[in-house]
Amino acid sequence: MIGDLFAEMGSPDAGKAEVLAEGAVVLRGFALGDAPALLEAVERIAAAAPFRHLETPGGFRMSVAMTNCGDVGWVSDRRGYRYQPLDPLTGNPWPPMPPLFLGLARRAATAAGFRDFHTDVCLINRYAPAARLTLHQDKDEKGYTDPIVSVSLGLPATFLFGGLSRSDKTRRVRLEHGDVTVWGGPSRLAFHGVAPLGEGEHPATGQCRINLTFRRRCRFISLCRGLGPLHPVRFRAVRGERARSDKNGRGFQGGLRPPWWIRNSTPAVSETRFPPVSTPGPARRCGGGSA
Ligand code: SIN
Ligand code: FE2
Repeated sequence: MIGDLFAEMGSPDAGKAEVLAEGAVVLRGFALGDAPALLEAVERIAAAAPFRHLETPGGFRMSVAMTNCGDVGWVSDRRGYRYQPLDPLTGNPWPPMPPLFLGLARRAATAAGFRDFHTDVCLINRYAPAARLTLHQDKDEKGYTDPIVSVSLGLPATFLFGGLSRSDKTRRVRLEHGDVTVWGGPSRLAFHGVAPLGEGEHPATGQCRINLTFRRRCRFISLCRGLGPLHPVRFRAVRGERARSDKNGRGFQGGLRPPWWIRNSTPAVSETRFPPVSTPGPARRCGGGSA
């Protein structure tokens, strides 16, 4: 009983901001008050755009089930990783982003020191026990000036947070129901992943974890439409700093690093505590859609 209550309430550190690296912070319990409504919205989204296991470009089935809402959705198949406006499963546009999502993402970004975050895509990840996400960078967006805002709901997970090189040491961070992780600025292209999810039962989601990953895929509309790969800004952000070493000989092999104007912008991460909120909601299942 006490265990259930604890799980419902999420992190025992609710209200604290935990800095992972420059520009990266976990806002403990930040989404607790919104959690029941967020999960209801996920069910509605999954009724229109079902969860599915995407195929990687290498031909592997991803263990995490995914769907999206917003102007575009993140997809993967044999042709590669990309954003597209239509859901390949249904042929329809992705469901619109609920105002609740927009507001939460913006408030969390602000609390982490990133003002004016307008998200245009939310990737929704569903983890069953044993599902995992290998180390990767979020780099399919057009430019990296905006942070990533990532909301954890349901079963706890071990988040792996590394550096700008795949081989950098990773921190293992336990993420609980209601925690929100934000990484941007010098950490925007940090490698990250999720260790295989443990078995368990959470009062809010049952036997799964739901993650909402908010991104800004496109800041300048002209960069997203019509301008070719040789546009100087796009060229620099997308290709210019791939696989180089810095002056100390430290490699950035296997990835990109943020361009200098992002590396040099140090967001002021709020050290103030925010009030934790707990509103126990009805027990829910894992968002519907396909298995
Ligand atoms: C992601 O990197 O897309 C998801 C991270 C998470 O599930 O916490
Ligand atoms: Fe990611």
